[in-house]
Amino acid sequence: MSRVDGYTTDIAFPAFFYPEMQPTWIRSVLQWQGLQAPDVAGAFSLCELGCGVGINLLVAAACHPSAQFVGVDFNLQHLEQARALASAAELHNLEFVQADFAQFASRPVQQFDFINTHGVWSWIAPQHQQALLDVVAQCLKPSGVFYLHYMCHPGSTDLQNLQHLLNVFAPHVPGDSPRKIQMGLKLLQQLAERGMFAEQPHMLRHLEQLARKNTAHLAHEFLTDHWQPQHGVDVHQQFASAGLQYVCSSDVFNNLDSSLSIPARLQSVVAQTHIPALAETLKDMARHSHQRMDLFQRRVQPSSPAQQLECLQYMVFQLLPGAPQGGAISFTTPIGPIQGPPALCHALLAQLRQGPQTFAALLELPALDRNPALLLQSLQLMMMQGWLHPAQAASQQAFNAAQRLNTALQAQGLGLTVHAELGTASQRSAHH
Ligand SMILES: C[S@@+](CC[C@H](N)C(=O)[O-])C[C@H]1O[C@@H](n2cnc3c(N)ncnc32)[C@H](O)[C@@H]1O
Repeated sequence: MSRVDGYTTDIAFPAFFYPEMQPTWIRSVLQWQGLQAPDVAGAFSLCELGCGVGINLLVAAACHPSAQFVGVDFNLQHLEQARALASAAELHNLEFVQADFAQFASRPVQQFDFINTHGVWSWIAPQHQQALLDVVAQCLKPSGVFYLHYMCHPGSTDLQNLQHLLNVFAPHVPGDSPRKIQMGLKLLQQLAERGMFAEQPHMLRHLEQLARKNTAHLAHEFLTDHWQPQHGVDVHQQFASAGLQYVCSSDVFNNLDSSLSIPARLQSVVAQTHIPALAETLKDMARHSHQRMDLFQRRVQPSSPAQQLECLQYMVFQLLPGAPQGGAISFTTPIGPIQGPPALCHALLAQLRQGPQTFAALLELPALDRNPALLLQSLQLMMMQGWLHPAQAASQQAFNAAQRLNTALQAQGLGLTVHAELGTASQRSAHH
């Protein structure tokens, strides 16, 4: 059988790492928004729903040896790969449970500080979405955080026609799901050559991008009967029914000042909008957002401005291997490249090249003119590029676990390096 309830199961999903799902990242983002977040220094717990081959959990488990991790997925092939890596890296603080979300919800209730789900919500049948929602409603601690990644309008709307054609064509192509994708893309290419998208040049750009992607990835992405982008505010309402409030995005770009991502003449319209759902909708429209990484909390606890400043002062930032060594500083963003102010960016990068720096020390740089909001914005833009990351106090146990996981990942040909002192990983091939 190649599908279960309309979802691809005959081919393993490739290993992907998303820094936005890591507990250290999520806690930092919430703190920057002036919100309290679960402590990640000690014995917290995290569950990933639809964990695939488990890379994101394995990295977190290595970096946080005192915490407990649970991955849930109904595809045994995925979990066997995840368990083999955990065993090779001798990680004992994580468990992979083979279950669909309804089966998991029927187990004795376990409560988590974090529940994460990436690449799942927009692709599954309504009854599985309801079961996922039930798990979150039952299993998130009152002070917990829920991370939800999904496809959204208007950026993903265009892809609906391509997905529909690939899915209608697939049952008529013999072979496995990657072959069905290959033949479907070939058909779309032939249609394009015959003028199918003559009035829609952006569809040709989508086709070019799809042709460069791994077919196992595309099989999970498109060969489902339940492919459904949604409006962010509709998803927020759905989760409000489970007692959860949308607080901010884990994709820091979306939390930055709108002046970076919204055409100048629209900025005042968004700023004057007092209806939060309308403002959020305007931002998604102006940015042509195609996916969202939303953070929800059950009990939203704002910090006082004094608490927020106090917590910021002591935050430490460290460069990642991909940070630029010099030259023009250009940030890749969902709305195209943004040029960083050269004096400010070079001053920050030069200081960080000397070693990890506290927020307070960076604020002393003359180029910052003692402007904490400007510093925070610059650091978030650099974090979004994978150039730097907030640091955490890591134990010797975490360094050892990260080293064992790095060896295991390398043996599998996975180009990822885990950094225990940052609570994250970076691509080994990162460009300088
Ligand atoms: C696209 S993959 C994403 C994997 C991983 N979260 C990532 O982002 O790399 C979706 C995962 O959800 C799992 N899945 C889909 N429907 C499910 C369900 N109803 N119950 C449990 N797992 C499910 C699939 O087996 C697959 O591993």
